[in-house]
Amino acid sequence: MNDYAGISVVLTGASRGLGEAVARRLIEGGAAHVFCISRTIHNDLCTAASAKNVDLRWTQCDLSDTRATTDVARAVCEACIAEAEHTAVLINNAALLEPVARIGAIDTQELVDLHAVNTVAPALFANAFLAASETRAHELDTRILNISSGLGARAMAGVGMYCMSKAAMNMLTQVIQTEQEGEPHPAWVCSVSPGTVESHMQKTLRDADEAHLRDRETFRELKRSGKLNTPEFSAAKILSLVHRRDIASGTILSVADL
Ligand SMILES: NC(=O)c1ccc[n+]([C@@H]2O[C@H](COP(=O)([O-])OP(=O)(O)OC[C@H]3O[C@@H](n4cnc5c(N)ncnc54)[C@H](OP(=O)(O)O)[C@@H]3O)[C@@H](O)[C@H]2O)c1
Repeated sequence: MNDYAGISVVLTGASRGLGEAVARRLIEGGAAHVFCISRTIHNDLCTAASAKNVDLRWTQCDLSDTRATTDVARAVCEACIAEAEHTAVLINNAALLEPVARIGAIDTQELVDLHAVNTVAPALFANAFLAASETRAHELDTRILNISSGLGARAMAGVGMYCMSKAAMNMLTQVIQTEQEGEPHPAWVCSVSPGTVESHMQKTLRDADEAHLRDRETFRELKRSGKLNTPEFSAAKILSLVHRRDIASGTILSVADL
């Protein structure tokens, strides 16, 4: 498989779950450059990348630290765009689910941290990515994949800040599309929900206190009945968007649509 040859990618939240599966698929597909951002480095991925001659660079950053994120976003997006051969892709994947609590009972620092990671960081990365791409827009295919959730359009008690952050991400997608429309070489953008994926985030939902998360049993049943997507399944569907020319920019979709 050499599906991603010549592609340069910025990927947040690459250390586990869906992001790890996306990074592994990019490596197996021979991506040219992969810029990973998370708090922890996944050494196996670094080893796999060097075995495949993929230029993988990992930047450790706590995305709840907005000042640090601003600098990291600028540096990695500039490198990603400068070194891209024909396609540059930003994948805003990192996210926090917690706090799991009803509004009125949320720890304020957890509230602020969630929006820094889920809302502010994707906007900072999109801003830096589009700024960096300006000088090369005529020669590069530039794409932004915002990893969203069905909860961006459906309120669920107990995870209100998460729902709110994904609704904001969907609006970020639509605003970028509107602003890019009419540009001579517009960047392409979408919001894509990975479906329910077995990951640390799903385990947090299954382990939550039912007093805070009324729908906890639904998540436990999804696991029991084997209805969760594997990270690899959702990663493959999401990365198919790198090549799709038939989906309009600004679309909000789910892997079930792909
Ligand atoms: N799993 C699902 O069922 C599901 C459903 C709908 C949407 N999604 C979306 O899919 C994406 C991936 O979710 P997942 O299930 O793979 O989650 P996950 O297993 O919890 O992984 C989250 C990733 O985000 C990174 N991250 C979290 N906080 C961070 C911080 N403060 N600074 C830097 N990086 C941070 C983590 O890295 P470090 O801890 O190393 O920093 C990790 O790599 C998210 O956008 C999520 O909202 C998931």
